Amino acid sequence: MDRSLSARPLAVAKVGAVRVGGVNRWREIGGADHGGVYDDRWRRMEARGEWVHGEADLVSWFGPATVLDAGCGTGRVAIELDRRGVGVVGVDLDARMLDEARSKAPHLPWILGDLTDVEIAAPGAADGRRQFDLIVLAGNVMVFVEVGTEAAIVANMARHLGPGGRLVSGFRLGLSPLTFDDYDRFAANAGLELEHRWTTWDRRPFDGGSYAVTVHRRPAGV
Ligand SMILES: C[S@@+](CC[C@H](N)C(=O)[O-])C[C@H]1O[C@@H](n2cnc3c(N)ncnc32)[C@H](O)[C@@H]1O
Repeated sequence: MDRSLSARPLAVAKVGAVRVGGVNRWREIGGADHGGVYDDRWRRMEARGEWVHGEADLVSWFGPATVLDAGCGTGRVAIELDRRGVGVVGVDLDARMLDEARSKAPHLPWILGDLTDVEIAAPGAADGRRQFDLIVLAGNVMVFVEVGTEAAIVANMARHLGPGGRLVSGFRLGLSPLTFDDYDRFAANAGLELEHRWTTWDRRPFDGGSYAVTVHRRPAGV
């Protein structure tokens, strides 16, 4: 299989106000006409013998106990991580994509929310907000969000990371104005340090091209 491409329910996952006016460019380009259509693409890849869990492999490599699948879509990454025993929460702006995720894994917490301002609550936590070991933005999420919201999204994701936690994203340039420099600057402004940049999810060195998998980390003592 080509691996270059690419259990337990959490006790509590509550969400604050859902921003309903947000623009989802993924929906605008027709990508989410139906969650099942999106899943068909991955099923065809699997049928061809291609490996579709590169993102889950990389996330697992870091060994997190808890993961937020941010822009989870139909739950491809979260469901695989749950199968591997990771505590996952999925959040997405698109109810139809979440319906598909829920139908495949009803035992998992699927949250309708906008990454710019979603608040995932953890009763008992000092500020009431849940903090994850790792947050993954897989499948080009960062270039499908509303243009101009990227900095707010990175900042909100950083707020949901525990000390030493990692923000992992994979996206291709050209689908929006976002650049890797912009993304790194937004992360730095949110208090995150650049830890890795690779060309693929199986950690091939960054080649300076248009696709990158980037890992930022919240410093351990902060
Ligand atoms: C290409 S899909 C990727 C889905 C999934 N991460 C995967 O890799 O299979 C992009 C997803 O980003 C979601 N999205 C776009 N803007 C968002 C936002 N502001 N908040 C939450 N999800 C968003 C879309 O609804 C869509 O499900």
